[in-house]
Parts: sequence; structure tokens; C-alpha cells
Amino acid sequence: MTLPAAFFTLHRDLPREGPGAPDDVGFAAMLAGLPESAVIADAGCGPGGDIAALLAAAPDARVVALDLHQPFVDQARARFAGQPNVAFRCTDMADLASETAAPFDMIWCAGALYFLGLTKGLAAFRAALKPDGILAFSEPCHFTDNPSKAAHDFWDGYATRLKADILSETRAAGYEILGHRPVSDAGWEGYFRPLQARIAQLGPDANADLAAILDLAADEASNWRDVKAETGYLVVVARKTT
Ligand SMILES: C[S@@+](CC[C@H](N)C(=O)[O-])C[C@H]1O[C@@H](n2cnc3c(N)ncnc32)[C@H](O)[C@@H]1O
Repeated sequence: MTLPAAFFTLHRDLPREGPGAPDDVGFAAMLAGLPESAVIADAGCGPGGDIAALLAAAPDARVVALDLHQPFVDQARARFAGQPNVAFRCTDMADLASETAAPFDMIWCAGALYFLGLTKGLAAFRAALKPDGILAFSEPCHFTDNPSKAAHDFWDGYATRLKADILSETRAAGYEILGHRPVSDAGWEGYFRPLQARIAQLGPDANADLAAILDLAADEASNWRDVKAETGYLVVVARKTT
């Protein structure tokens, strides 16, 4: 997937690239009961918005942060320069099982597994986990049985599931569910607020390409506020079963 240059003009140096908060990582780590020297993958790490929380939850862990897009990997690496227990890789998380550091004690994947699709992502990550390894991910989810058209449209064609369907598909893929909860409004605002500040800064001088990207991003934030009771992200923490 090649993203337009204007996308990176908007997204460059944002603290994170999707909704989420440090306490989502804490929630997952608490349920996971990680070993002290855990090896953790941050799959689809974006600019590294969750790495500090992963290190806070497991200070002696080794974290491999990977993303398909080099500019995000570069930003994450610059943020954690001098941190010897974090490595960065620009690579496809579909091939996580082939990473030198695999198999992992835990895979953390905030708002990125669905780029592979839930079914493919669950299988690819299972192959990259140790026996009893933990997968924690956030997945688009409808919170009501009859979501409105606006709630469907928010996900731009992704086959967003109900909570029960995400959990049953996760179990069927060879995991035991340890816990789940929605990403909080604060987690969404933590993504949208810096984005909206950047939109306001860039808007006055934007050329046509950039203006189109800014409009899309502004719409996403305002649409989320309209549909947030019906849809959002579900954080799922699951253990690989044998
Ligand atoms: C919504 S962003 C979330 C980023 C980060 N986890 C966060 O919460 O800030 C999704 C990320 O997944 C990355 N991504 C998408 N497909 C990928 C793939 N196949 N392999 C690795 N990264 C991928 C994107 O480049 C993007 O950085």
C-alpha cells in the first residue's frame, strides 16, 4: 500500500496513529502475567505510541516494534534512541513468525491487526507466539446489534463485527479469552486531538492534495463523535491454547 505524500505531511510526528491509551497496555499486561524477561512484539507500532507503556508494564522486556511504513519506524526509533531493549523493524507483520526474535511471549497490536483481516491476523500471530503466549489487540467492533448506516460507514467497508463474534472467532482461532474492554473515549481523543491541532495548523496553506487529506481526517474525528455509542475498538487479551 502506497500512501500519498500529503498523508505523511499530516501524520508526521503525531504521538500515535490510532486510538488507544497507556492503560490499555496496562490492562493487557495485568491479565497476561508476563515473565520478567518477556519478548514482546509491538505489531503495527506506528510512531511508537505504546512502547513507553509496554516498557513500564514490563521493564526488563525486550520489545520488537515493527511497522510496514518506514517513516513511522524512523519516528519510533528516534523517540526511543538509546533504549537498548527496543528494536525496530520495517517489515510486514503477516510474517511475524519469521522474525529472529520469534516466538514471542506477547504480541501487542493496537488498531493494526484488521489491516490483515481478523481471520488472517489471528492465524499469523498465533504462529508467532510461544505456547501459552499472549495476543492483545484492538479490533473494530459494533457495540449494538443494529448499528446505524453511519456506524457501518465509519469503518469504510471493513467487515466490523459484534463483540460476541470477535470473541468467538478469536476462540475458534486457538486462543482462550482472558479479558476484553472497549477503548475509552480518552483513548480516541488522545489520537484525534493532536490530529485536529495539526489540521488547524496546516489548513491555511494547504494545496489541493493536502486539503483533501485534511478534510478526510477532520470528517473521521467528527463522524466518530456521532457514532461512538454504537461502534469503536474492542481491546481483546487472549492466550494461545495448545
Ligand atoms: C491505525 S495505525 C496504529 C498504529 C499504532 N499501533 C498506534 O496505535 O498508534 C495502524 C498501523 O499499522 C501499520 N500496518 C498496516 N499494515 C501493516 C502490516 N501488514 N505490517 C506491519 N504494519 C502494518 C500501519 O503502517 C500503521 O502504522
